[in-house]
Amino acid sequence: MTKDSANQMWGGRFAAGPDAIMEAINASIGFDQRLAAQDIRGSRAHAAMLAATGILRDSDAEAIREGLLTVLSEIEAGDFNFSPALEDIHMNVEARLKEIVGEPAGRLHTARSRNDQVATDFKLWVRDQFDAVDAALIRLLQACLAQADAGAEWVMPGFTHLQVAQPVTWGHHMMAYVEMFGRDRSRFADGRKRMNESPLGAAALAGTGFPIDRHMTAEALGFDRPAANSLDAVSDRDFALEFLSSASICAMHLSRLAEELVIWSSAQFRFVTLSDRFSTGSSIMPQKKNPDAAELIRAKVGRILGSTMTLFTVMKGLPLTYSKDMQEDKEPVFDAADNLMLALAAMDGMVRDLTANQEVLEAAAATGFSTATDLADWLVRELGLPFREAHHVTGTLVARAEAGGKDLPDLTLEEMTDVHSGIHSGVYDVLGVRNSVASRTSYGGTSPVRVREQIARWQEILG
Ligand code: ARG
Repeated sequence: MTKDSANQMWGGRFAAGPDAIMEAINASIGFDQRLAAQDIRGSRAHAAMLAATGILRDSDAEAIREGLLTVLSEIEAGDFNFSPALEDIHMNVEARLKEIVGEPAGRLHTARSRNDQVATDFKLWVRDQFDAVDAALIRLLQACLAQADAGAEWVMPGFTHLQVAQPVTWGHHMMAYVEMFGRDRSRFADGRKRMNESPLGAAALAGTGFPIDRHMTAEALGFDRPAANSLDAVSDRDFALEFLSSASICAMHLSRLAEELVIWSSAQFRFVTLSDRFSTGSSIMPQKKNPDAAELIRAKVGRILGSTMTLFTVMKGLPLTYSKDMQEDKEPVFDAADNLMLALAAMDGMVRDLTANQEVLEAAAATGFSTATDLADWLVRELGLPFREAHHVTGTLVARAEAGGKDLPDLTLEEMTDVHSGIHSGVYDVLGVRNSVASRTSYGGTSPVRVREQIARWQEILG
């Protein structure tokens, strides 16, 4: 006989219930209630399989499957009393099922353990996140692509060390993020493909003697196949780590674009204007329009990477198979997924709404002797100078221009021939920023011709 205070699921060998602190540290229902739909889906597939294999009577399985739908609708309606005394979502659902269908509920856990159950639920949840992130990335890619398409020819400064380096096009710069977010998609897709094996039926750790059909449940739950090793199946959290790792890289990409938007929207740059919808004001300075969304996106990577570190640290050194440590896997993944989705949506909105200030970009492109490399290349091509010498001649010309307080195209021909006698007026052709970008026609280069090709390629990919 089970004492009233002992756990109704496993209280058989217990004379007393847990200390309040034990219950507090042990319960996961506060957060794993987010797995309710996955838990019920997994249990329904398990019950159907138990009936199909003759382990359960059809009538019992049917009662269980129907009862589980009732539980689900109660939870979805917010009409469910989650109990910490029942620890987690699995036992909360089963306890309620028992209230609804009675005796058959106790047969659901045949040939199953919470270890394969939680691994299955969590995988189903993470798999949905892989899909949601992919859809969000597609939207963001389309937003970046539209920006690139609108300003494929617009000239702007390209930077290294945040110093003006060479003129590039706005389209080229936007397409750099298309490449990054495109790689993020393929990284997530790769993880999703690898994780799609069903843990269900691994039972506690060793499999079961019941004649279960793991292929059937795997298929019912949309898995490609059952996981091949029961020990691994219950203790693998690679799928969550891969999701988090990919999320961290994606968040890092988002933070780089966010940082650029913060810089570009400042009064000193004015490269872009953010929409009112994605800006905030200041309570004291009436003139302010702050890029808060960009700043918060910039910060999210810290949090998401933190979640990644959390789960790596939880998992490292855990002996096979399940240890309760692994209950700590969920919150970091929930938090990272929520915040990545939020950051992706906010970035999508910001990119869609932002206005690139074409004139400001082009004027800035001409500053900082941005066409010095074009001049050096011209000296190599036209005058046959070795590149190192051309570099030196150009450096001298830059120093002269700087001393005279002017840009390279403003140097007179005399000032130029004074440094190298072979220079002729043809040099001015390469000193303009438009000519500069137009000349960079190497594959992957910033020339509008090449950028348009890449835009077309990505339009094709994204449909
Ligand atoms: N709430 C647990 C978790 O999230 C479920 C698995 C419990 N298994 C066990 N053997 N105690 O990991």
